[in-house]
Amino acid sequence: MNKFYLTTAIDYVNGKPHIGHAYEKIMCDVIYRHFTQRIEDTYFLTGTDEHGVKIQKTAEKRGITPKELCDENSSSFKATWADLEIGYTDFIRTTDERHKVVVQKIFKKLVENGDIYKHSYKGLYCAGCESFLNARDLTEDGLCPDHLKKPEEVTEENYFFRLTKYKDAIMAHIKAHPEFLQPSFKVNEVLKQLEDIEDISVSRNKNSVSWGIPVPDDDEQVIYVWIDALSNYITALGYAPENPSETFKKYWPADVQIIGKDILKFHAIYWSAILMALGIELPKTICAHGWITIDETKMSKSLGNVIAPADILKNFELEKPDALRYYMVTSAPFGRDGNYSDEDFKEKVNADLANNIGNLLNRSLNMLVKYFDGEIKPEFIKDGNDIEKAGDEAIENVKKFFDGYQVCEAANAIVEFANTVNKYVADSAPWSLAKEEKMQECGEVLYNVLEAMRKIAVMLYPYCPNISKEIFEQLSADMNIKYDEVANNKLQAGKITEKTKIHPVFPRMDSEFATDKKKAK
Ligand code: ME8
Ligand code: MG
Repeated sequence: MNKFYLTTAIDYVNGKPHIGHAYEKIMCDVIYRHFTQRIEDTYFLTGTDEHGVKIQKTAEKRGITPKELCDENSSSFKATWADLEIGYTDFIRTTDERHKVVVQKIFKKLVENGDIYKHSYKGLYCAGCESFLNARDLTEDGLCPDHLKKPEEVTEENYFFRLTKYKDAIMAHIKAHPEFLQPSFKVNEVLKQLEDIEDISVSRNKNSVSWGIPVPDDDEQVIYVWIDALSNYITALGYAPENPSETFKKYWPADVQIIGKDILKFHAIYWSAILMALGIELPKTICAHGWITIDETKMSKSLGNVIAPADILKNFELEKPDALRYYMVTSAPFGRDGNYSDEDFKEKVNADLANNIGNLLNRSLNMLVKYFDGEIKPEFIKDGNDIEKAGDEAIENVKKFFDGYQVCEAANAIVEFANTVNKYVADSAPWSLAKEEKMQECGEVLYNVLEAMRKIAVMLYPYCPNISKEIFEQLSADMNIKYDEVANNKLQAGKITEKTKIHPVFPRMDSEFATDKKKAK
């Protein structure tokens, strides 16, 4: 691997960002930051999806133009990603000129190749899904199963994309590339959907939808949803059918495209077919994450339980997003649904970040100051001990989990290692060793623990960049080392810390410390 290109789904701007959107972007940022520790050339794309009937209608209701609505909401997505320290390389908006012109070129090329044709169509349209539904997919009462609304019967002459032409090729690709669809338990679901696909409508009449990219050479039609939205992954890189940019040639195919399970079908099937029709390689991996619920219920405007990430940071008076980032991505195993609750959030980060990791560092550094004036003596450094081995193993395990984009599992491996180190401290009791004046043994234990902390800081960096930076600072260690060099960059002998530098890297939420901070305000 010599480059790494990662994309997120682009969010609809008909509302404000909530923690479901945040879950995905944090997961992507964690994966991205991990790979920046391993690879020189990396690119992280996110953005907003801004066309469509929902946006048109919401804007109408508010008495503003669709573009005004898009500007407002796209900005709040950006502001939220700034709060959460999502370090994207590029943010594409489907209303960007750079995107629109290329989507038109793509559409034109697909028409020229005979992949798009005009066809009169009668179908059941769900505005919530922004797509036509099959009668057999409706509930017994004839409602959309996701939105529980009656789809509209629509007759239109639209452009259609010949999805069926690519059915066999997509099936073959999925079967030949086990890494293509992740988690693998999703593969059968997609193969089943592929069995009964039909050609798809890719435009709408201007009378029903006007807020979209115009179909080239046809004043009556606008390009609708998927060709517009999906193309963002390549238009952002500067793709064009005739003269793709150097950036596109360098970064495409994407190493991983991360999306929610609700839009896996559109990515695994529609997107693959569009790419095949354009003669472009498919992404290496498409990864579908699960759904975030709140108190075990689906988030929805009508239930009034939609939580904005900024509100959580505010409620808990968190200046940095580390704890929320950590909690969100560890809330569900790979590809499964997760849940948010305030109580659980507090418990989880107090246990893992404050107690397990933070406290370990704090205690060991304080002992180093108390017994050795903050200095590691050369004779404390012994190679090949069990903690060193466990740390090197953790580094390898975490890497393997990230290779499969298993962010939650990687975090669990870090915490497990921290548990091992905590147990080692409890068993070797360096405070008793000091009391018995076994200073050499005491120094060795402290060195092993602090060196383990350094490894933890490297592994934890993608999740909690600020906490990780604090750990490096208190250890006087270099944080800018490549992941694969971690094991060889051990803490050196010498004075590594002073009493004044030591403070909790993550104070327990609702602890006295946190309360004191509140009082001081
Ligand atoms: O689907 N939990 O946009 P979107 C976890 N514009 N993930 C969630 C979620 C939740 N509760 N709610 C939404 C779209 N998401 C299209 C995508 S891509 C070319 C076009 C995820 O705003 C959802 O699964 O409805 C999707 O991946 C992303 O947020 C944007 O959802
Ligand atoms: Mg959605």
